[in-house]
Amino acid sequence: LDRFGFGLETQTLGRFTSTTSAIKAQTENKTAKAAKESKTFQAIQEERREQAERSVLISCPSKINENTFLDDLSKHGTINKHFFYNSYGAYAVVEFSSRESIASLKESTNIPAVEHEAAVPFKSRLLSLKWPGSQSSNHPMPKFKVQSPLSINEISQLLSEKDSIDEQLQCLTEALELTEENVRLRFLVCSLLQDIAGAYFPECIIRPFGSTVNSFGKLGCDVDMILDLDGIYATSQKKGSGLSLEYQVKRGASERAVTQSILSVIGKCVDQFGPGCVGVQNILQARCPLVRFAHQPSGFQCDLTANNRVAMKSSELLFLYGQLDPRVRHLVFSVRCWARAHSITSSIPGAWITNFSLTVMVVFFLQQRNPPILPTLDRLKELAGPSDKCVIEGNDCTIVSDLSKITLQQNTDTLEKLLQEFFEFYGNFPFNKTSINIRKGKEQTKPETTALYIQNPFETTLNISKNVNATQLERFVALCRESAWLLQQKEILNQCPDSPWGFAALLLPSVTSGAGVKSRRKRKLEPASSRIKNLLDSLKIKGGETVAKKGNA
Ligand code: CTP
Ligand code: MG
Repeated sequence: LDRFGFGLETQTLGRFTSTTSAIKAQTENKTAKAAKESKTFQAIQEERREQAERSVLISCPSKINENTFLDDLSKHGTINKHFFYNSYGAYAVVEFSSRESIASLKESTNIPAVEHEAAVPFKSRLLSLKWPGSQSSNHPMPKFKVQSPLSINEISQLLSEKDSIDEQLQCLTEALELTEENVRLRFLVCSLLQDIAGAYFPECIIRPFGSTVNSFGKLGCDVDMILDLDGIYATSQKKGSGLSLEYQVKRGASERAVTQSILSVIGKCVDQFGPGCVGVQNILQARCPLVRFAHQPSGFQCDLTANNRVAMKSSELLFLYGQLDPRVRHLVFSVRCWARAHSITSSIPGAWITNFSLTVMVVFFLQQRNPPILPTLDRLKELAGPSDKCVIEGNDCTIVSDLSKITLQQNTDTLEKLLQEFFEFYGNFPFNKTSINIRKGKEQTKPETTALYIQNPFETTLNISKNVNATQLERFVALCRESAWLLQQKEILNQCPDSPWGFAALLLPSVTSGAGVKSRRKRKLEPASSRIKNLLDSLKIKGGETVAKKGNA
C-alpha cells in the first residue's frame, strides 16, 4: 500500500478481471463543443492530446468511494477532470492539471507481485487500484458514464416519442454521437500507446484519425490511429554550426517496407508489453499496413497505421464539412444508422459500402442542392491561406482551416426534405457511368468499370469504394428507392407513439432485401409494425412499377 491509504499497481500483461456489469447511466454532457467551435481542427486535436498526456486510466472497485479516491489522488496534484465508466469492470479516467502529478503518482505505484506467473515490468499509465479491506459501503456509488451505443430497438423507441422527422434526426445524432468522455478516453488510449512506441521513437506521436475526430463518430466505432514520426525528421533538419553529423540508419527497399518494419516491431511491443492490449494482428500486406488489436480496459478496437498523413487530412476535411451546417451531421448520422440497420454497412471488411463512403456520398448530395448546402473541395482550397498549404506525397491537400472565411448560401430545406431527396437522388443515380467527386462537386465520367466510384478527395487517382461489388450497390439502390417511397406515404408520417413512424419506420427490415424476413424475426418488431408491413406489402405488389418508372426517369 502506498502512503495514501490505497495501493496503486501498474497493470501488467495478463492480469484482468472479467466482471461484466453493464451500468447504463443517462447520456449527458455533450459539452465543450460550442466553446470549441471557433478553434481550428489542429488546435482541437492538440488540446485533446495534451489533456491525455496529463491523464491516467485506473481500474477500480465498482463500489468505490469517490471522495476518498479523489482526496488521495489530489495529493499528487490538482485534478482537472475525472469520470468513471464500466468496461469489463469499473475504470476511472483522471486528468491532472500538470504532468508532474503523473510522475509523482507513478513514483508511489508498485509493480505487482504475481503468483504463479511473472510480470512484464512496464510502467504505463494504466493502473489498478487496490482498495484497503474495510471500506464502508454507505457512500453513494459514483456515476458511470455510458460508452456503448444504443441498440436499433432502443433507438426506434426513442425516435417514436418525437414530434417530427426533423426532431427524430436531431435526437438520433445526440443519441449516437461520441460523448465528451468517450473522446477523452480515445485520446488517452492513443497516448498510452504512444508511451509504448516512444520507447523506440521518443519524438513520435500517436494521433487518432477517422471517425474519432471527423465529428461523425458513433459510440462503439473503432479507434483509427496514426504513428506520426514527422517530429523525428523535423529535429534532423535543424542546422548545427560547423560539423554536420548524420545518424547512421538501417535502410529499407521502399517507404512502404520501412513502414511495415516499424509497425511490425511496434505491433510486437503492443502484444508483449502493452497492458490491456489483446488480440494483436499485424496486417502489414494491406494497401495501408496496420496493426489491429483490442484495448480491453476501454473496450476499443484499434487500428494503428503509420505514414498515413493523407487520411488525417481527409478526417480534417470531413470535420470541416460537419461544422459548416448542423444538417450535415444529422443527415450523415441518419444515413449511417439506416445503412447499418439494413446491413448495407458491416463491421466485417468486405464488399460492403463503408461509413467513410456514405459520408462522402452525403457531402456530395449536399453540394448538389439548389442552392448548395456545402461548398466544393476546390472552393475550400481557394479559400486557404498561406499557412494552410499542404502537399503530401505529391497530392495537394490544401484546405482552408479558418471556418469563418467560408460563406454559405441560404438554403432552408428541412431535414425531412433532405432525407427524402437523398434517397431519391441515390435511388436514381447513374452509377453505371458516373463517379462521385466532391472536389468538383459534380458528377464525372467514371474512369473505370468498378460498381461504385467515389473519388478519393486528396489522392485523386484512387477510388474509396473500390471494394463495393454490384450486388451491394444494387441493395443500396433498392433500399434508397424503398425508403424514398415509404417517406411519401402518409401512414409513415403519422405520428404514433406505440409504433415506429417516420425515420424509425425506415429502420424496419425491408421487403426488397433478401435478409428482410430473417432480420424482422430477430428484431422482434412485428407487433408494432403491422401498418408498415401492409405498406411494404403493397410496395411489393405495386412498387415495382413506381420504382421502375423512377429509375428510367
Ligand atoms: N480512409 C481512406 N480511404 C478508404 C478508407 C478509409 O482514406 N478507402 C480513411 C478515411 O479518412 C477514414 C479513415 O481512413 O475516415 C478511417 O477509415 P474507417 O475506419 O473505415 O472509417 P471511419 O471514417 O473511421 O468510420 P467508422 O466509424 O466506420 O470507423
Ligand atoms: Mg474508423
